[in-house]
Amino acid sequence: MQVKVSSIIGLFCIIGCVYQIYGITKSYLKFKVRHDVAYDYSTSIELPAIDIMVPMFVAINWTKVLAHHPEMHDYCEKLKVKYEQSNFTIDNRNVKCKEYIYLMFLEKFPFVTFDDLPYRVDVKKIKEDTVDIRTCITKLIVASYEYKDIGCKVTRYYNGLAIFMRIFCLNGTKPSSVDTNTVSLNEGIVAYFYYCLPVQFGIRFSDSADFPSYDQSKYFMITSKPGSFPYSTINFAKTVMSSLEYPYETNCRHYNKDKSISQCMDKYTLSQSPPYLDKYSVHEWDEHINHLGFSNPHNEGEKVCQDELDAFNKCNQQAAATECKKTIYLVEGKFSDEVVGSNSIIIIVPSLNLNTYHSVHPVLPWDEYVIYIGRIVGFWFGVSMYDLILKIFIGSRARLRLNVNEN
Ligand SMILES: *[C@@H]1O[C@H](CO)[C@@H](O)[C@H](O)[C@H]1NC(C)=O
Ligand SMILES: *[C@@H]1O[C@H](CO)[C@@H](O)[C@H](O)[C@H]1NC(C)=O
Ligand SMILES: *[C@@H]1O[C@H](CO)[C@@H](O)[C@H](O)[C@H]1NC(C)=O
Repeated sequence: MQVKVSSIIGLFCIIGCVYQIYGITKSYLKFKVRHDVAYDYSTSIELPAIDIMVPMFVAINWTKVLAHHPEMHDYCEKLKVKYEQSNFTIDNRNVKCKEYIYLMFLEKFPFVTFDDLPYRVDVKKIKEDTVDIRTCITKLIVASYEYKDIGCKVTRYYNGLAIFMRIFCLNGTKPSSVDTNTVSLNEGIVAYFYYCLPVQFGIRFSDSADFPSYDQSKYFMITSKPGSFPYSTINFAKTVMSSLEYPYETNCRHYNKDKSISQCMDKYTLSQSPPYLDKYSVHEWDEHINHLGFSNPHNEGEKVCQDELDAFNKCNQQAAATECKKTIYLVEGKFSDEVVGSNSIIIIVPSLNLNTYHSVHPVLPWDEYVIYIGRIVGFWFGVSMYDLILKIFIGSRARLRLNVNEN
């Protein structure tokens, strides 16, 4: 049997080509990633959203509550026995009681509950009985512009344990930024504000697309004695993490994890009868109707029932994936309780830490894969043409020789 040399070469090329494509595809389909870290030496400081978190027990205007809830008075008598042997006079009873209530909560801190109080917060009470913290920021200056000139938006949120306020300043459509020259001209100040917030609150910075967080460890907490004016300096460093979705091994999701868990919990608690809200989930100020409370009325006290715990675990499982894009801010600061002026002030200064950018890249991206395949096919096509090229070459040599002989 006679086999043509060209078909042997052709077969050899097809095998080689398929084998190499197989190898490349196999390594591509492993969806391996590499991690990069970059640092930011930019000349301007972008101001993120400023989050203020006020624990519920200080956010509530107890003066108002004590005036409208006579059932609180027996409770005050009990606190009086506990904290002081002094006598109430009718005039100072509410003032004293308010102080005892703070003492009682501070004793429990940070595991504050309203368990034994004859007053339970619900959505309506949060809206009516808490201090309007928006009016507590009396002056906000960003790079020598007052916030009425720059477009700062103030939004409020709540959960069953705290109220939140977010201040986010935009210049046009971009977050307000301050260049480092301006900062050095302003004696190292990026922004500052005067406030009249209650005796305890937390401050942090966050991505405006995220929900405010209840986690106290993420805040810089400022606690002051009533009547004193703390002077605080805080700074923040940004960390941006961007990752890759399935099929890559990092397998993140484009979603907002906290929001997703919160919505999932709402779905459960609002479907119960009677409906209620999960006290840890953060909600927008006008998201829910007023009559909702924060714990399942079938539960004893504020204990969590098993069904609710199961629902919470289920919601957490559904939101197990990491977020593909996440910006977090690390806040640091210090404060002194000394009376410097007659205003409490928070000064935002540049951080000594650099902004960090973590990014994940595919080891072999799709476009590179296509180029590799193209190269392999091209190479083996070239080799398989060897026979033909040789013939053409020999043919032309022969023709050349013929021409030479003719002359
Ligand atoms: C608390 O409530 C009282 C009575 O309603 C009101 O006069 C007072 O201004 C309130 N305090 C704050 C800080 O809002
Ligand atoms: C409490 O009242 C009694 C008599 O009404 C009085 O003798 C006593 O000094 C009072 N205590 C305080 C701390 O005011
Ligand atoms: C807004 O941005 C423009 C240019 O980017 C700048 O000239 C201006 O000063 C900024 N305004 C404020 C209030 O930061």
